[in-house]
Amino acid sequence: MGMILTVTSGKGGVGKSTTTANLATALAKADQKVVAVDFDIGLRNLDMILGLENRIVYDGVEVMEGRCNLSQALIQDKRTKNLYFLPASQTRDKSVLQADKVEALLTQLKEQFDIVLVDSPAGIESGFEHAIFMADRAVVVTTPEVSAVRDADRVIGIIDAKSKRAKEGREVEKFVLINRIRPDLVERGEMLGVEDVLQILALPLVGLILEDERVVSATNTGEPVVLDPKSASGEGYRRTAARLLGQEVPFMEIKAKRGLSRLFKGVFK
Ligand SMILES: Nc1ncnc2c1ncn2[C@@H]1O[C@H](COP(=O)(O)OP(=O)(O)OP(=O)(O)O)[C@@H](O)[C@H]1O
Ligand SMILES: [Mg+2]
Repeated sequence: MGMILTVTSGKGGVGKSTTTANLATALAKADQKVVAVDFDIGLRNLDMILGLENRIVYDGVEVMEGRCNLSQALIQDKRTKNLYFLPASQTRDKSVLQADKVEALLTQLKEQFDIVLVDSPAGIESGFEHAIFMADRAVVVTTPEVSAVRDADRVIGIIDAKSKRAKEGREVEKFVLINRIRPDLVERGEMLGVEDVLQILALPLVGLILEDERVVSATNTGEPVVLDPKSASGEGYRRTAARLLGQEVPFMEIKAKRGLSRLFKGVFK
């Protein structure tokens, strides 16, 4: 029996889908059988980040409604062995998800995969509640901005109140991932630092991801940045995946590069 890991946030647009795609890829590369599931009904974009949008035939809602089998809807990645993807429906009707059907689908996936990575929609409405309901673990993504951290804090409270585990008196193991860190701004005191974020959220840190323009080009080409050995954000995701698998990996140092080049570059050891 595998585990369900939900990637969520309070504020939208902070990097949930980017994180889901990269962690799914990195975990599959670490020999885990992984499925990335898009729960962002109507607004799917995880397929693009994974570069699989042209291969979609069926989606998760069609599986839940019995219009196709799970195996017909699952897409196997050709680049990364062990990586599968279950697309979101593009229907505009966000109420298509029903709790019992979501539970049945995720239970079926948990039986077939080591790790079921669930990408949540923006906001804290019903789609979000479906995405967190079955979570065994949750990665709460935030940027180092007060509004995003405050919204992340709210989401942590909702996971603790509304997940299946919470209802059974068990805990969802929760971690923080801080995305889009700009070392130059942190050094100048213009952006919250890692310690500030952790003090507010009081959860263990699982990942630090720098602001990286390669994330944007990677999304456009459908090659998750974690496949690029030279990218700083890719390195951040590789380390995050290793930590999720129980390895002790040092965090990169958040330091702005100085020198003749005034170009900002994050460096880490
Ligand atoms: N580390 C990063 N560096 C630079 N750009 C980033 C980084 N992480 C994410 N982005 C960009 O930010 C935008 C939002 O990312 P993404 O779609 O992953 O967020 P999301 O939380 O899934 O959004 P939504 O709430 O709408 O689902 C994208 O354009 C993405 O390329
Ligand atoms: Mg998204």
